[in-house]
Amino acid sequence: MRRPTFKWGWAALSAERVTSGRITPVSTSDPTTRIAGMTRVLVLNGANLGRLGKRQPEIYGSTTHQQLADHLISTGAGLRLAVEVRQTDLEGELVGWLHEAADEGIAVVLNPAAWTHYSIAVADAVAQVPVVVEVHISNIHAREEFRRHSVISPYVRGVICGLGLGGYDLALAHVAASIGEPTA
Ligand code: DQA
Repeated sequence: MRRPTFKWGWAALSAERVTSGRITPVSTSDPTTRIAGMTRVLVLNGANLGRLGKRQPEIYGSTTHQQLADHLISTGAGLRLAVEVRQTDLEGELVGWLHEAADEGIAVVLNPAAWTHYSIAVADAVAQVPVVVEVHISNIHAREEFRRHSVISPYVRGVICGLGLGGYDLALAHVAASIGEPTA
């Protein structure tokens, strides 16, 4: 069977290298943030991003959310990161995941999708997480006026936007490079 490859980002990887979306926990010195010697990272995607591949492909591309998730798990493994990718269309669910990250000290790569532009609840939750990298697939500053402002950005480490799905790879690279650095 032909191995699907990904064309974005600096880490072109094969989906078939990922045998499962789950990594089995083994004993570690810090079970809250490390799995099998790898640092945990949550990639959290907001509303409508589960429809990647179908949704406005001229803006968001033809890669599905599952393909993105497989790619990021594989990219993360190469960076010694245990990446878990989640997507929700429910604002409260995203807030709950951010609370989990805050309580367990897990770095987050976050695409808040439409909540970027108006959700104070998501912003307040993000403010509790020590390391969040905000990612947007499209260049939100080159689109409609209402997309140009992010209520999330004041509370994040940095923002990557307009670099397509490769932005997630860059965010993971930043998280990997930041391990051990003070989070304040
Ligand atoms: C987005 C940009 C948002 O304006 C939009 O609502 C999304 C996706 C992006 O990744 O480019 O859903 O966050």
